[in-house]
Amino acid sequence: MADAGKGHACGVRRRGRDDEIKLVGFLCNWCSYAGADMAGTSRLAQPAALRIVRVPCSGRVDPLLVMKAFQEGADGVLVSGCHPGDCHYNEGNYYARRRLELLKRMLPYYGVEPERFHYTWVSASEGGRWAEVVAEFTAAVEPLGKLHYAGGAPAAAAGEEDGDG
Ligand code: FES
Repeated sequence: MADAGKGHACGVRRRGRDDEIKLVGFLCNWCSYAGADMAGTSRLAQPAALRIVRVPCSGRVDPLLVMKAFQEGADGVLVSGCHPGDCHYNEGNYYARRRLELLKRMLPYYGVEPERFHYTWVSASEGGRWAEVVAEFTAAVEPLGKLHYAGGAPAAAAGEEDGDG
């Protein structure tokens, strides 16, 4: 008899709940959330690992919110907003782009692989693109497995030394 979560008579390993990755997506209300909604109503196939959090604008996504998601058990975090020039609040996604690019570069210092974080732009009419983004991000994080990030200060940066000098 097959043991759920360990194996199956056909030889295909079934993933138990403990080793399923969890992805969190922060989506701006005006473009990406609508794009994700369109993908759903168009019945486009998408991996089920992503939990969506709707935010007013990608500019609202503080990097600390991303780190909090990792700390609370996310194995990957995706941020998606309106395309540059299309932000409902004019320049929120420009602020987001600056902050999130810096965050991506900082992640290795926190012991988080940069592949676990992605930001992009998806419009309300791009349901197909949204489905592709989710599939590609899931495929990038899955080989990395669970994260187990406990939070805290970053590891010592390269070149940084203890002591007074
Ligand atoms: Fe969508 Fe600002 S409203 S990124």
